Amino acid sequence: MMKNRERAQEPVKVMNESSLQDLFSLCLSRLQKVFMEYLNDIPSLELKMAMEHTLFNGGKRVRPLLIYATGSIFNAPLENLDIPACAVELIHTYSLIHDDLPCMDNADLRRGKPTCHKLYGEGMAVLTGDALHTLAMQTIASYPASLAAEKRMQMMAVLSNACGPFGMAAGQALDITVMNDPSLPSDLLLDIYRLKTGALFSACIELGRLASDNDDDFDQRALKEFGDCIGLAFQIQDDVLDIEVNTELLGKQQGIDHINNKITYPKLCGLEEAKDKIQTLYQQSLEAINYLGERAQLLRQLVTYLIERKI
Ligand code: IPE
Ligand code: IPE
Ligand code: MG
Ligand code: MG
Ligand code: MG
Repeated sequence: MMKNRERAQEPVKVMNESSLQDLFSLCLSRLQKVFMEYLNDIPSLELKMAMEHTLFNGGKRVRPLLIYATGSIFNAPLENLDIPACAVELIHTYSLIHDDLPCMDNADLRRGKPTCHKLYGEGMAVLTGDALHTLAMQTIASYPASLAAEKRMQMMAVLSNACGPFGMAAGQALDITVMNDPSLPSDLLLDIYRLKTGALFSACIELGRLASDNDDDFDQRALKEFGDCIGLAFQIQDDVLDIEVNTELLGKQQGIDHINNKITYPKLCGLEEAKDKIQTLYQQSLEAINYLGERAQLLRQLVTYLIERKI
C-alpha cells in the first residue's frame, strides 16, 4: 500500500466529472484499486476468492456513487471520498451475503450468479461477510489519505450507527421476525425499511459531506432529508421489482419475497400505491436539494437513474 510520504507529493484531486457515466467509471476504478490493494494480501485463498466473487460481480455501486456525488457538491478531495465509498460498499456487500443465507432469505442467485454460500458453502459465506464488515472499519481507520483522524472517527460513528443495532442489523432482525405477520401496520413496515436500507443510504450522504470541509447545519439537514427519502424509496422499489421483473433481468430470483411469505409494501398496500409512494419520495428528495442548484447536478442525475432503474 502507498506510503504517506509518497502521497504527500501528490496534488489534492477533486472531481470534475459532470455526467453520470463518467461518475460511474470513476467510481468503479477507484473502488477496484482500493479493494485490490487489500485483497492481494489475504492469507486464505478461499476467503480471498469468496470476497473477490462478491465484490466484483456487477453490483450497481449505488451507495458509493451517492458518496462521490455528494462530495462533488462541496469539492471534497477524491481520496477522502474513496475511504467511505469503499467502506460502505464493503458493508453493503457483506449484508447481501448474509441476507442470502438459507437462515435468512435463502437465495441462490445474486447479480445473475450463484450466491456466495452456493459457491463457497455457508461457513465461508458467514466468514466472508464478517471479513468484509471488518475491512470496512479498517479502511476508515487506516487507509492512507489526507483525511484527518477526527474525520475518520466521525465517519466510523456515522457508519456503525447506520449498519449496527441502531440501523441495518436491527432492520434485518425485524425483517426476519415480524415481516411475515399479515397484520403488520404499514407505518411499522416503513420503519423497518428505514432501518434495514434507509439508514445506510442516509449515511452515504452524510459521509460524502463529511469528506469535505462543509460544516453547515442547513446543508446537513437538507441532505439528511434527501438521504432518508431515497433510501426508503429504494427499498419499496426493490420490492416492486421483485414482483415485476423477471429473474434473468433482475439477476435475483423473481418473487422470492412471495416465496418467503414476506409482507412487503406493495403486498400490503397494492402495487399502484407502492409506485405512487416511490415517485412521491423521489420528488421529495429532489425538492430537498433544489436550493443547491447546479452544484447538485450529479446527485440529481443519480436520482433520475434510480427512478428509472429496472434492476
Ligand atoms: C439490494 O441492493 C439490497 C437492498 C437494500 C434492496 P442493491 O440493489 O443496491 O444491490 P446491488 O449492489 O446493486 O446488487
Ligand atoms: C435487503 O432487502 C436488505 C439488506 C439490508 C440486505 P432484500 O432482502 O429485499 O434485498 P434483496 O432483494 O435480497 O437484494
Ligand atoms: Mg432480506
Ligand atoms: Mg434478500
Ligand atoms: Mg428484495
